[in-house]
Amino acid sequence: MSTTAPPAADGLRDVVIGPSEICDVQASGRLFYRGYDIHDLASHSTFEEVVYLLLYGNLPSAAQLSEFNARLARERTLSPEVIALLRGVPAAAQSMDALRTAVSSLGMWDPDAGNQSHEANLRKSERLIAKMPTLVAAIERIRDGNEPVAPRTDLNLAGNFLYMLRGTEPDPLYARTLDIDFILHADHEINASTFATRVTVATGADLYSGAVSGIGTLSGPKHGGAAEETMEMLLSIASLEGVNEYVTSRLTGEKRVAIPGFGHAVYRAPDPRAAHLREMSRRLGELHGDTRWFQMTTAIEKKVDELSNTPERLAAGKQPIYANVDCFSASCYYEMNLSTRLFTPLFAISRISGWCAHMMEQITFKRIIRPRAEYVGPREQTYTPIDKR
Ligand SMILES: CC(C)(COP(=O)(O)OP(=O)(O)OC[C@H]1O[C@@H](n2cnc3c(N)ncnc32)[C@H](O)[C@@H]1OP(=O)(O)O)[C@@H](O)C(=O)NCCC(=O)NCCS
Repeated sequence: MSTTAPPAADGLRDVVIGPSEICDVQASGRLFYRGYDIHDLASHSTFEEVVYLLLYGNLPSAAQLSEFNARLARERTLSPEVIALLRGVPAAAQSMDALRTAVSSLGMWDPDAGNQSHEANLRKSERLIAKMPTLVAAIERIRDGNEPVAPRTDLNLAGNFLYMLRGTEPDPLYARTLDIDFILHADHEINASTFATRVTVATGADLYSGAVSGIGTLSGPKHGGAAEETMEMLLSIASLEGVNEYVTSRLTGEKRVAIPGFGHAVYRAPDPRAAHLREMSRRLGELHGDTRWFQMTTAIEKKVDELSNTPERLAAGKQPIYANVDCFSASCYYEMNLSTRLFTPLFAISRISGWCAHMMEQITFKRIIRPRAEYVGPREQTYTPIDKR
């Protein structure tokens, strides 16, 4: 073997890429943003306050938050050039592909393009965070044959997103549900998309390039696409009666097939974010007099637990399987009448805040991220000219 270091664990599991002051994910089921417990933030904070915390490292004073909110609100508008680009997106394009392309174009219009100072990166971060909901709402409306709705400055980020999506006054309960959902999705240490953003900016590339890497990485079904897959699973099972057969066939067949919305690469205990989303899903279902999706999701949870977290499997060293953040976000979004096409873009609207914080932290480290592979291919091959092969 030509590499000097021992080969890293499969999928880089448990490999520590460096120090970070942003997010602490504990396998025991605890999560902290800059030292603040996710349960406190989800119960008492707002998405904007959490974004400030992630970007600036501390909770804002009332005056700081008010100025921050005003800056974000001012930056919501898209230029006519970016709207024109969105109008050219093929109708069949995936929302995340359209979002990735749109964010890439934003980078060329940013007044700080080419300026890599920390102050410029903070301004770019605020623009990215402010414009992402406007992009997602515009992509959705244009695809449906509607005109984009201009953002308002008197609503918070979640409420304004719902307003731009529907063109009507946002329901306060939906706006707060989405606000909490955004808090819960804002950051999660070195998950795949955040790692991708950090690798990108570590080369000296700008924040927009990093955001594009993040969006592409988030789009996969094993990462940000899991909520959409979870809803598709619920729709395909269709009723409470179908749950046991579905879960049993996936988990006890010849080959175990992962259930969307379950399992986690780090947690070995229940995902702390799922508790909040479970409760919000229950409340929304009860409000609408239709708890079908909530009940099906909890029934899937019960069956997965019964078949996966058995003393035999755990004694054999298998990881326990619990609902993750995407499990109940699926029914929450669906109950708020949000199209499944929006599920992954909603994740991106929130996670852009964590990506920006991580990218700015990574830039302070100066060093390019350049791991090695354990070469296992053939060696010392003899080159044969093409006419002799
Ligand atoms: C998130 C995820 C990619 C993490 O995977 P991982 O840590 O690499 O875990 P592995 O794929 O190596 O699986 C380890 C064991 O747990 C089981 N497992 C993992 N996720 C599972 C799931 N969603 N449902 C059922 N079993 C699962 C695997 O079957 C495997 O058991 P086995 O060794 O008996 O075959 C994986 O759990 C998954 O694909 N989940 C569904 C997609 C999802 O919800 N993603 C969002 C994550 S926030």
